[in-house]
Amino acid sequence: MQRLAIQGGNRLNGEVRISGAKNAALPILCASLLTGDPLQLDNVPDLNDVATMRKLLQQMGVAVEATGNQVALSAAHIDKLEAPYDMVKTMRAAILVLGPLVARFGEARVSLPGGCAIGSRPVDLHIKGLQAMGAEIHIEHGYIHAQAKRLKGARICFDLVSVTGTENLMMAATLADGVTVLENAAREPEVVDLAYCLIAMGAKIEGAGSDTITIAGVEKLHGASHRVMPDRIESGTFLVAAAAAGGSITLTGTRADILDNVLEKLQEAGATIQVAGSTISLQMSKRPTAVNVRTAPYPAFPTDMQAQFMALNAVAEGSAMVVETIFENRFMHVQELRRLGAQIDVEGNTAVIRGCAQLEGATIMATDLRASACLVIAGLVAQGETVIDRIYHLDRGYEHIEAKLSALGAQIRRIK
Ligand code: EPZ
Repeated sequence: MQRLAIQGGNRLNGEVRISGAKNAALPILCASLLTGDPLQLDNVPDLNDVATMRKLLQQMGVAVEATGNQVALSAAHIDKLEAPYDMVKTMRAAILVLGPLVARFGEARVSLPGGCAIGSRPVDLHIKGLQAMGAEIHIEHGYIHAQAKRLKGARICFDLVSVTGTENLMMAATLADGVTVLENAAREPEVVDLAYCLIAMGAKIEGAGSDTITIAGVEKLHGASHRVMPDRIESGTFLVAAAAAGGSITLTGTRADILDNVLEKLQEAGATIQVAGSTISLQMSKRPTAVNVRTAPYPAFPTDMQAQFMALNAVAEGSAMVVETIFENRFMHVQELRRLGAQIDVEGNTAVIRGCAQLEGATIMATDLRASACLVIAGLVAQGETVIDRIYHLDRGYEHIEAKLSALGAQIRRIK
């Protein structure tokens, strides 16, 4: 089991290049199933989840060639319409093959994803949407078995905002017979990036980025080239790290227009932020001021940045409230932060953090992807050495994180 050892106390200075967005790359990789033509992708992050998705597609018969951050896919010869449990259990995003498989091949067998650390995370909205489009769906032996001669356009209103639910049904609708309208759709930028890729493949989609997306089904989609958008959560994570540790960093190859809420919160915490084209710079010369956050669907404060702000608040001046409204169990990092001396009280989905001037390094354990990022940030500012166990969670979503942080002056190394 690999671990990270961090000597706290260094400020962060320098430049860091932001990678492609994991949560855009994963659905876009699945979009390759919608056509027999080649799909050329660029700026695909080199992450464990992306590698798992490539393997999942390859075992279906998709030809996949990855060279650095470029991935070429061709689903010309699919011979298996199944996503097996052993792959789905490690990466819930595997559910995103369901819509494309039913849309193009009329059938799919996808394992029900188990729960995960942050919540039960059902996929009932994905299933209900496909049923509304005419799919026959049976759940048997832990698998979703979906069949449809040809999906039909439908009006679907989501009971609650679901990012991959919106993505799965948007992909399914591109080849359906007729028009599909998705209401109460997710507005996340990753949904928009997927829509751009699908449109390049010949799909007819309007309204992506708003809460109503209209898709007019076509007979076939064709190949395309697409560059994956930058990762807004990786961007936010590095900015919070510098705001907590102090220093002056510049992110390159990123986008500020999709981080408004996070940038505002960082300014509220006392950071100075400059945006210029595809760069974001942050300077922090004093101890941060505690900031309240409440997670909600985009464009509100992202749940994937909640744990990172909890680490910032743990060392900030004053007290703050963090309210998690999306997932029912996304406070797994609280226990670990407490081991470093953080003062945090939790009541249901609300945490109250009283900032400490100093955290003490200790051995702690990562429980999920963004919790791991939170613990890295806490380790950067804690006094002495912090060792983080189970960092395979981190490798799922952050490309070469210790190399990027070391380049900014952090004392961080991976130990076997
Ligand atoms: C996506 O997960 C992201 N993953 C998550 O990022 C992110 O935290 C989440 O959206 C919220 O922004 C990917 O894009 C691959 P949801 P997703 O469906 O789509 C409930 C990370 O760290 N729900 O928007 O699975 C669900 O339980 C990951 O990169 C249903 O009840 O999340 C949750 O409470 C973690 N039924 C809420 O909706 C459904 O059918 C939002 O979930 C679907 C969802």
